[in-house]
Amino acid sequence: MKVDVTSLKQQAAEKALDFVESGMVVGLGHGSTAIWAVRGLARLLKEGRLDNIFGIACSRQVEEEAQQLGIPMSSLDEHLVVDVAIDGADEVDPHLNVIKGGGGALLREKVVAQATRREIIVVDESKLSSQLGTHWAVPVEVLSFGWRSQAAYLEALGAHTILRRDDEGIPFRTDQHNYIVDCRFGAIPDPHALAEKLDARAGIIEHGLFLNIATDLIVAGRDGIRHLQRQQ
Ligand code: A5P
Repeated sequence: MKVDVTSLKQQAAEKALDFVESGMVVGLGHGSTAIWAVRGLARLLKEGRLDNIFGIACSRQVEEEAQQLGIPMSSLDEHLVVDVAIDGADEVDPHLNVIKGGGGALLREKVVAQATRREIIVVDESKLSSQLGTHWAVPVEVLSFGWRSQAAYLEALGAHTILRRDDEGIPFRTDQHNYIVDCRFGAIPDPHALAEKLDARAGIIEHGLFLNIATDLIVAGRDGIRHLQRQQ
């Protein structure tokens, strides 16, 4: 039987809205899964089933879409704490560590996540993995100044690197006007050790390893929806 991945993404994202209550500040993630939470939230507000919500967007694109849908938007400068954030992921391991950034919004996503009490990752089951790096490259946001020296550093750490480009071959720029180097490491035995090396390097702005950040995972698959929580 053919699986409708879009429908699974929608189911996972909408399930996460069960954890949103009136009066909350809600982080709105970027990507083709998280956008269903944005649309669902707008619907619940319109129907009067939620009120007094403020959204904090993880990208300019999401900010625009949420505004168009009528969600009252705020910023981390006005609300230092986010109650719940709903965001997607590219790859998720059994410890609820994830790779993010396929959509290029990893820096803002991590900034929002670190201000968030409950970070809910929503995925279809194709994103599950026994070890991070098996299926997906780690996106690394770098300063465009001197980016080749970052690529060389990342290669020395064992990555095969590719500078992300748009459809016309022009280097992709993030919302912060930085570059993204996609780093294919293969299966990463110790993501924490790798993250430390990435965190320590000037010129690397942020990376897509989100470790010990997700509190909840909602997975939609052909057998239904599962909700898992990270063991503290
Ligand atoms: C955006 O930068 C990403 O972190 C996305 O959340 C991630 O790439 C998952 O995207 P999809 O939901 O579109 O697969």
